[in-house]
Amino acid sequence: MNAEPFSKSHSTMSKPTARLGRVAILWRGDEAARRSAAPETSRFKAVFAALADAGIDAEPVVYEDDALDAVRAQLAAVDGVLVWVNPIHEGRSRANLDALLREVAARGIWVSTHPDVILKMGTKEVLYRTRTMSWGCDTALYRTAEAMRAELPARLAAGPRVIKRNRGNGGQGVWKVETLASPHGRSVIRVLDATKDASEELALDAFLDRCAEYFDDGCVIDQPFQARLSEGVVRCYMAGDRCAGFGPQKVKALVDAPAARAEAGPRLYTSNADPRFQRLRRLMEDEWTPQLTALLDIPRRDLPMIWDADFMLGPRGADGTDSYVLGEINVSSVFPMPDEAPAEIARRVADRLRSKL
Ligand SMILES: Nc1ncnc2c1ncn2[C@@H]1O[C@H](COP(=O)(O)OP(=O)(O)O)[C@@H](O)[C@H]1O
Ligand SMILES: [Mg+2]
Repeated sequence: MNAEPFSKSHSTMSKPTARLGRVAILWRGDEAARRSAAPETSRFKAVFAALADAGIDAEPVVYEDDALDAVRAQLAAVDGVLVWVNPIHEGRSRANLDALLREVAARGIWVSTHPDVILKMGTKEVLYRTRTMSWGCDTALYRTAEAMRAELPARLAAGPRVIKRNRGNGGQGVWKVETLASPHGRSVIRVLDATKDASEELALDAFLDRCAEYFDDGCVIDQPFQARLSEGVVRCYMAGDRCAGFGPQKVKALVDAPAARAEAGPRLYTSNADPRFQRLRRLMEDEWTPQLTALLDIPRRDLPMIWDADFMLGPRGADGTDSYVLGEINVSSVFPMPDEAPAEIARRVADRLRSKL
């Protein structure tokens, strides 16, 4: 090998990488959090670090509805904004934030994830729109309380169902519903709230009244209850169209058997190379993501820099292989994430800033 003591290649260690651009990392927080926000002390520390390594300057922007104007001014100075804000937070929605993000995006600033893309793939409606894909099941969508009243009983007669409000998180507005006997023609059902430990019995009409407010989000989704839920679920993390790791978990939500509930535990994070999930990875990267973007008309470059798809186990195939049933796609605020995900995010952001996506 040639010794080149004066060649430039020897100085790469000390030479700063050419900077690719500036992005904001935006999350929700109050005025005190806004004043004290710093990369090293934030929960996005690893994302800040990965972006810095990739030559991207990132700065924290803490959002609350009453700081809208200050946030607008901060966002005017960046090339892109990466957003981590849940659809529901202590009773507050993303209405004002989404309006601001639309405005910012219209001025040419890259928003990941754009509110329109969240509406397409990050709401429960995606379960209905992609129901014919092989991750789908016999999913229904109700636009009105009247439609739900008319159609739900026949579906319940075939087995337990799961009702989901269109926009939610943390089990809010998710219910397991099953029929009991109907004395004197008055339907009584058993319902289990995904945020609660015990089920309750009530008249179907009373339950329908409870769901009335969910129609403010446009629709309610109705999926068959997946009996293999108690075997555990697996979350597949995606950065754009590449898998960025997995998170298997024995869940508690909607599991009513005490023995199965006792087995519930935290989500366990693992890499995209985990041999247990390579078939799922191939399905996600090679089949489902391209089908999803085609069905929903989402350009590849608009895919979220981080998103996840939650799977339950479905019926086994003739050869014994598991099938996977989609439970939801999370886009708004995917966190925590597997250790290698920040580097994957940084790669997507770098590609986007170089306009390679
Ligand atoms: N079709 C289903 N069958 C069985 N359990 C389900 C089904 N859908 C959701 N669940 C359970 O309910 C929980 C919450 O539902 P999910 O769709 O993830 O909504 P959220 O947005 O509230 O997280 C899931 O983690 C899972 O435990
Ligand atoms: Mg969930």
